[in-house]
Amino acid sequence: MKKKIAVLTGAGISAESGINTFRDSNGLWENHRIEDVASPTGWARNRQLVLDFYNQRRRQLLNCQPNKAHILLAELEKEYDVTIITQNVDDLHERGGSTKIIHLHGELLKARSSLDEELIYHWPNDILEGDKCEKGSQLRPSIVWFGEAVPKIEDAIPVVLDADIIIVIGTSLVVYPAAGLLHFSKYEAEKWLIDPNKTHLPAIPNLKFINDKATTGVDHLVKILMNNRNN
Ligand code: APR
Repeated sequence: MKKKIAVLTGAGISAESGINTFRDSNGLWENHRIEDVASPTGWARNRQLVLDFYNQRRRQLLNCQPNKAHILLAELEKEYDVTIITQNVDDLHERGGSTKIIHLHGELLKARSSLDEELIYHWPNDILEGDKCEKGSQLRPSIVWFGEAVPKIEDAIPVVLDADIIIVIGTSLVVYPAAGLLHFSKYEAEKWLIDPNKTHLPAIPNLKFINDKATTGVDHLVKILMNNRNN
């Protein structure tokens, strides 16, 4: 049976595909305060601003490509049972070829009803004022905003509990519940963290740190894991 790998990714894995991270630019996200564009209060205050913001992000995403880190993680599936748990709302893991992906914070290419969170639609285009769900309420981005529940965490926890190897890539680990996932890992699980700018590491036993950006760091790690696959 293949060993199980859980990969927790954040904005840093998509940085080299041209998507800005959240916390590397003075707390502003593409020139906006996060709470203005990524919270239910922001939506209630200025719906058009929020729609425009995510429409821009969606258009930008369609011009971005998966990078080597996304692609190599997909190749790991040849030898390992890999599940990606991502905080990213882009589809670069999908386009990189990974087959098991949990999107903790939603997906940019989906829209959802603002009335019923179960009503989700594939939506690669702009969401416009007046675009409605089948129950007649305005569509909004299918993104988990600050202050909202993260239902997919229920799928992610057993993946981390079961994993033989855990890889964390490009996340500041400050947003919960995602940041708490590592604490569910088995003591004996092999744990790796890849990030070029970490000043302090999470207090997790057996954590090995690769101080590098995602593309080269993942390349290095995948070589190690491919050599160790039968151990
Ligand atoms: N390769 C790997 N890591 C990188 C790279 C790179 N090329 N460039 C930057 N990083 C690292 C940064 O050092 C930082 O640790 O990526 C991390 C990005 O952190 P954040 O910007 O905080 O992104 P993330 O952890 O994904 O944010 C979590 O916060 O705003 C919300 O919902 C949003 O999902 C997001 C959540």
